[in-house]
Amino acid sequence: MQMEMRKDVLFTLFGAEGDLSARLILPALFNLHLDGLLPQHFLLYAVDRTVPDLESLAAHYRQSIARYSRRGKPKEKEWQRFSSLIRFIRADLSEEAGYHELASALSEQEKAWGGNADQIFYLAIPPFLFEPVTRGLGNSDLAKNRERARIVVEKPLGHDLESSRAINQALLKYFEERQIFRIDHFLGKETVQNILAMRFANPMFEPVWNRRYIDHVAITVAETLGVEHRGGYYEKAGALRDMVQNHLMQLLCLVAMEAPVAYDADDIRSKKMDVLRAIRPIAFDEVGEFAARGQYGPGWIGGRELKGYRQEPLVHASSNVETYAALKLHVDNWRWQDVPFYLRTGKRLAASVSEISIRFQDVPHKAFPASVGLDAQPARLVILIQPEQGIVLKFIAKEPGSPLRLRPVDMRFSYKEAFRVAAPEAYETLLRDIMAGDATLFMRADQVEAAWQIIMPVLEVWQDNPAPDFPNYPCGAWGPESAELLVARDGRSWLTPTHTQGVSTP
Ligand code: BG6
Repeated sequence: MQMEMRKDVLFTLFGAEGDLSARLILPALFNLHLDGLLPQHFLLYAVDRTVPDLESLAAHYRQSIARYSRRGKPKEKEWQRFSSLIRFIRADLSEEAGYHELASALSEQEKAWGGNADQIFYLAIPPFLFEPVTRGLGNSDLAKNRERARIVVEKPLGHDLESSRAINQALLKYFEERQIFRIDHFLGKETVQNILAMRFANPMFEPVWNRRYIDHVAITVAETLGVEHRGGYYEKAGALRDMVQNHLMQLLCLVAMEAPVAYDADDIRSKKMDVLRAIRPIAFDEVGEFAARGQYGPGWIGGRELKGYRQEPLVHASSNVETYAALKLHVDNWRWQDVPFYLRTGKRLAASVSEISIRFQDVPHKAFPASVGLDAQPARLVILIQPEQGIVLKFIAKEPGSPLRLRPVDMRFSYKEAFRVAAPEAYETLLRDIMAGDATLFMRADQVEAAWQIIMPVLEVWQDNPAPDFPNYPCGAWGPESAELLVARDGRSWLTPTHTQGVSTP
């Protein structure tokens, strides 16, 4: 259910100076401001320990907005107006004093506005601080208003099942589930939201959306980027934790879920949860059959020579961390029995492209002789997530003239052409939903834990058995050979992404 934007919002940002705040949250808030989408009364309380004063923080934000916002450099007048909405509180998050200072600042502001405001607490901080911050908020009574206080966290939501449970317990000690907004920024992408619109606002997809017509589903999230400056984080994460546990698993849920009764946060999230519950567990001794891992070595992309993962800053010279992961999953329910879902993601691949391919079964009877070319390509529906945004239906058509020749053709829907407006960034959508109190695009505790549970056997086996062949793909390839084998064993192959022109220089 879409809720109305409340009038007054006090938005507290913990970790105000950090990368997430400067690169994603502030540009998104600034764009909402430019679009007139911030509430009428809005103030941002930036909390950090190291920033000297508000002026230097504001200057830092202005620079990063110029660099990262889809609109580029802020204009003077607009910036002045927006920066007047920022307050700064210097606080050590492990000490109580800062929370009390925050609590009295918020309550004074509410009085000045003459009423209650919604209070958002955004934790743009490392997970080890989640517990002290929720405790600080709880002890200063900032969590207790169940309707108006909301807490926002984002990944990494744990390192494994156990640590993700510990995070959920820490959050749930002071906040109720309905107050907790767990971000998976893929869910804020327009094309990802459109999966539900496509599936459930049109009558023609549902009849074929099942094991009778679909051969398999392939989800690709490929990046040309390497780990950049994030070696320290990535060494403790790897592709499975960084991408599969969250983003790819959420995409799978949207493709596989049943129709919701209403467009309502809990109904949609429960339907997604049903998918996660139905995923067939991977046994420890089956990991080799259901999962493949890779790590990039030196190579070339877009004419540039690039280092291997082990040569990146803060990465161990004999690191066993995977920069590529592929999984084969089965959803054991009536709709999807025996339809494999192949998931793959990796860094330093041949192209930056994310898409979901729904591969239909071959026709039951081949009336055309093989010579006309019917076997050339299977019919498939491709949901283009990025960089191109749209939907492509690939099917077979007759070439003009004779003799008879059949050839695959594309029917395309492009967001850019159909709507001719710039789509908001994922964070703009998500921040607006948080302020409106709409949790549809956020992950519930049970989903996060279920997704961890699915990948735990793979994580454990990979950790206990270092890969003897790393690095096993060069920068600019489509991944390791083991990933090809994963699908080849089923007599299939990865479908070439429809959008590969996007091979960009990283
Ligand atoms: C993040 C991962 O969650 O998603 C990054 O930590 C990855 O490693 C990023 O690069 C990809 O997101 P997007 O929106 O740039 O496709």
